[in-house]
Order: sequence, then C-alpha cells, then structure tokens
Amino acid sequence: MGATDTAAKRAIPAGFESAHVTPDGYRNMYETSVSDPAAFWGEEGKRLDWIQPYSKVKDTNFDFGSVSIKWFEDGVLNVAANCIDRHLDTRGDQVAIIWEPDDPATPAKHITYRELHENVCRMANVFLSQGVMRGDRVVIYLPMIPEAAYAMLACARIGAIHSIVFAGFSPDALANRINDCGAKLVITADTAPRGGRRTPLKANTDAALLHCSDRVRCLVVKHTGDQTTWIDGRDVDVLALMQTAAPDCPVRPMGAEDPLFILYTSGSTGKPKGVVHTSGGYLVYAAMTHQYTFDYKDGDIFWCTADVGWVTGHSYIIYGPLANGATTVMFEGVPTYPDAGRFWEVCAKHKVNQFYTAPTAIRALMGQGPEWVEKHDLSDLRILGTVGEPINPEAWTWYDKHVGKGKCPIVDTWWQTETGGHLITPLPGATETKPGSATLPFFGVKPVVLEAESGKVVEGNGVEGVLCIGDSWPGQMRTVWGDHQRFQETYFQQYKGYYFTGDGCRRDEDGYYWITGRVDDVINVSGHRMGTAEVESALVAHEKVAEAAVVGYPHEIKGQGIYAYVTLMKGVEPTDDLRKELVKWVRTEIGPIASPDLIQWAPGLPKTRSGKIMRRILRKIAENDYGALGDTSTLADPSVVDDLIDNRMNRG
Ligand code: WT7
Repeated sequence: MGATDTAAKRAIPAGFESAHVTPDGYRNMYETSVSDPAAFWGEEGKRLDWIQPYSKVKDTNFDFGSVSIKWFEDGVLNVAANCIDRHLDTRGDQVAIIWEPDDPATPAKHITYRELHENVCRMANVFLSQGVMRGDRVVIYLPMIPEAAYAMLACARIGAIHSIVFAGFSPDALANRINDCGAKLVITADTAPRGGRRTPLKANTDAALLHCSDRVRCLVVKHTGDQTTWIDGRDVDVLALMQTAAPDCPVRPMGAEDPLFILYTSGSTGKPKGVVHTSGGYLVYAAMTHQYTFDYKDGDIFWCTADVGWVTGHSYIIYGPLANGATTVMFEGVPTYPDAGRFWEVCAKHKVNQFYTAPTAIRALMGQGPEWVEKHDLSDLRILGTVGEPINPEAWTWYDKHVGKGKCPIVDTWWQTETGGHLITPLPGATETKPGSATLPFFGVKPVVLEAESGKVVEGNGVEGVLCIGDSWPGQMRTVWGDHQRFQETYFQQYKGYYFTGDGCRRDEDGYYWITGRVDDVINVSGHRMGTAEVESALVAHEKVAEAAVVGYPHEIKGQGIYAYVTLMKGVEPTDDLRKELVKWVRTEIGPIASPDLIQWAPGLPKTRSGKIMRRILRKIAENDYGALGDTSTLADPSVVDDLIDNRMNRG
C-alpha cells in the first residue's frame, strides 16, 4: 500500500457551493444512476434535441459471444444540429470557437455559432458535391485549424462517418487507416505550422495515397499557402469550393446508433483498432461530462489543449462543448513555442476559465520554472483538469500552486478512447481530491476491481487489481470497425460479463481509485497510447533487424519512454549511426510519437523453451530494476539475461 493512500484529502476550494453538482448531489445522483440506469439516462437524454424521441433507453449485453450495446436506439437526431443549429436563436452571435494560431503574431479568430453554421454548411455541400453519402467514411488529416472542426461537423450534418488521423502520423499510418475504413475522401492541408516548424501534410497524403484506391479524393485546405504538388482530377481546393457552395445545408436525420466517427487506437496486439462511436449516446455522454466535470456554465471560456486527432479533442474540444453551447478554444501550437509561457499567455489573452491538459505538458513546463506562469494574469481560471496518464503528486502540486493558486479544483479525469468520455473523475464542487487519484466514478459508471489471475471480484476498500466496468454507459464504443469479434475478444473475453479496461488500479481506504497503468502490452508515451507490437513490427520491417522486443520504462517527462531491444541480422555491425537510422525508420513507419528513446543491441532475447519472449524480464532490465528478475528457470538460455543486464541502456 502506498503512503499516498492516507494522503490528506484536499478540501473543495471556496466558491463552489453553487456548482452544478454538490457533495450530497453527487451521492444521491450516483445512487439513482446505478440503481435505475434506464430511468436516469432516459432523463439525461433529454439534454439533446431529438428529431424523433426515443422510447427505448438501454439495451446492452456484456456476455462474450453476444456483446451488443445500444442506447436510445429508436431515437432520431442529428449531431451537428445539436452542436450548432439549436443554438442559433439563443446564441447565434456568441463565439463558438476561439482559434489561437501557432504564431502568436498571427491574429486569433473568433468564430460565432452563426459563422460556424455557415462554414459547416458550405463544407457539407462541398462533401456532397464530391459524392459523399450517408454512411461513407471521410478521413480527416488536418492540423488544429477551424477547418478540422468544420469537417467533423460537416460529416455529422450529412451522416458521413469521420475518421481523424492525427497530423503527426506518417504516410504509412495514414494509408492503413484510409484503407481499413474504406474512406471515399481524405481532407488535408498544404502544410501545418507547429512550434515554428512545418509538417508537409499534403506531401504525406500524396505518399499515403500511392497505397490506396485511386478513387480516393483529396480535398486540400490551403492554410499556409506553401507550394505542394497537385494532381488534377484527384486534388480539390476545398476553400475555393466552399466560397461558391450554398451557405445552408439541411441536416440528415440519423438513428441514435448510426456511427458518428471511427478513431484508430493502439492495442496490445495487431494493427490499430477502429473504435466506433455512435451518435446519440456518445453526444449525451460527451455533453454531460463536459458540463459536470468542468462545472461548465454559460459564458465560460473552455480550453482543452489536446489535438482533435485524439479522443480528448473529439469529446472536449468539439462535441461536448459545442453541444453545451460553449465557447471552446482551439490551439494550433505547442506549449513551449515561442517560449515556455505560451499556455499561460493564451489563458490570459482569452480569459480562459477551464483549462484541461496532460500531465506530460505540466511536467515539461514545471522543469522551466514557475516564473513562466507568474508572468501572466491567470485570475479567470476556475478549474484545472488533467488527462491521459497518471499524474505524479509533484506535478499535481505544482499545477495546483502555480497555475491554480490553490483556488482551482483539479479534475484528474480517467477515461479511454473506448469510453467516449470521463469514467472516473472528481467533480469540482462535489469531490475532495487527492493528488494522483482520479477519485470516484462518474454517474452511471460501475468500476469493479478483479484479481488479475483468477478474475474474482475484489470487494471492499484498500484493495488492488485490474479495473473493469460492470455495466454500460452511453458513451461506450460499440464495436471495432469491420471486426466485431475483435471487439468482443479485446474487451469482454478475459473477464466474463465485464468491460476490461486494460488498466490496473487500487481502491484506497476511502474508496478512491488510483490508476496504476496498463497491465497489457500497451505503453503510454506523453499521454498517447502506443502498442509495443506496432513498434516491434516497424523495427523488424527494417532489413538489418532480425528481431525486436519493445517495452516501456519510466520517463521523467513522458511518463513512459520506449525501450527497444534489437537483434541484428547476422554480420550487421551495431553502430550509433544504425541506432539513429532505426529511430528515423520508426518515425517514418508510424510517426514521431513512436520513436524509441533507447535502443539496446541484444544478441539474444530471453525466451522460454517454447520460444515465447519473457517481457517481464525485459521490463525489469529497462526499468533498471534487474535485481528482482523473479523466476528465470524457464528460460531456454539464462545467459542472455546477463548480457542484457551488462549492456543495459537505462542506468538512471
Ligand atoms: C489510457 C487510455 C482518455 C483520453 C486520453 C488517452 C491512461 C488516461 C488517465 C488518468 C491515469 C490515465 C489509461 C487509459 N489514462 N487518463 N487520468 N490517470 N491513467 O486516451 O489513448 O485511449 O488511452 O490512458 O491507461 O487506459 P487513450
């Protein structure tokens, strides 16, 4: 049991008495939400406008072999209408999106709900003119510019399914996703400024499309004006077409269970999975969590620093905030450009009230010293949030003291691409916090701790195990695109009757949850999920590599770093240049986020007699914790371990 278990709770700061949810409110509402979920969610569903109201609320089954998840299934709605049109009468002139560019010298843009409506309609009409129909897939490979929001909402408006590919991914990764979802078109930009540098998105898309059907159209947002190649008949200047397109476009009525988007995420095995989220349940859940977790009130300026290429950007830059009629900030840049004060400068400039970022960013900025924060007026900040990985108490305390001045509740939100929205999180006016704990479940969420090996439920407090969820919530993913069997096997096979999260956790004496990290072969690098198998297959695709094994190890800034053990082909010289070449290779195969931090040459890998790599041992060596290797008696050749220890790369 960690010392943090008994850590004093931090009281709710003053001024939160009139928060949406109070401590008693939380207890009562939580109780109702889990005792009668259909009644509870039946009421919550009313926060949306339905073209045809639902009569059925919940029809969900977690039994392996017949997993099926449906919410509000006979309801009809349109997500874009809920995020835009229904606000036009009451807040047409209110700013919906504040766009803050990479270069602080470029003016910010303030896009009202009315302007958002017009731009989304024009983009939707362009999509229609390109032959995009209901149910078609559109891949979005854009930087953090307003057109990314327009493209998402234009898809939703006409019933097309978007799949955003993070602009940091390589051409190969982009091609795989275009092909897996069978996209009809991809929308990209000429180049993407980030931190003063430019990513050649159009050139990457050209490279990707070499591996795709030649029927895939390529819409290009001329954002920087940088020169790109142009293929007539395939490439389309989307901004030019938007100018002549009609400024209105009727919304397509969609079933609640019609897919809204596909988002690829890494798993412990195989290629990335296309996580499918649908329209009704997802939007109810994104809107509700946005309102309650951040205590969002009308007129607040909300800033989530994520990229729309991740689920955090989907739920908390676009869908949740816009469904609530909020003003949401969209930031093109990075935390350290032009200097380490950028986040705080933007907070002050736009009078941000809720600020939501990743622990890795906090740790990086913490290293630059508090003077970067203190230069800026942060008096409008009311709530701080974190997401993506466990936050170490030092970073939590720094965030609280220097950014929140001890007056802002910190919401440490635990959730996943698969969950659509927050599952375990404090609520600002309701939950006393503990630095490092995601605290208590959101409404309707039933966390269950199981013994990893036996799968037995662990009751009571002061316990540890793997984290499962006992019942469905509306924001849950519905399937893996094109592979429902894989969906069932990944999440419902190992622990029957439960959704298995892949995370380990501790429930402390107060019933608070502490996420201890992944228990599978997934690593969390700077809050981004990476499958070790993916990095391994990129490495072995290099002609000089015979075999590779990848594990995570603790990294001061990134949370986890990528540690690769590489066995070279016979006769290949292990040099530092080759190390650099392999790092570069992985970057081009997957993207910079997959770059190995450390590569160790491994003449042999520790294997069992049946040939299975013993990752447990590799993890220990990477963690520099080789004194406790555990049982090595099943190794085919125990001597390889001594060599790996002698030549380990992490001696910190
Ligand atoms: C994995 C999900 C959810 C959006 C960003 C990441 C880890 C996420 C927390 C947190 C501890 C966290 C988990 C989870 N994680 N939030 N507050 N505390 N761990 O989404 O890429 O789907 O990754 O991120 O390990 O399973 P994702």
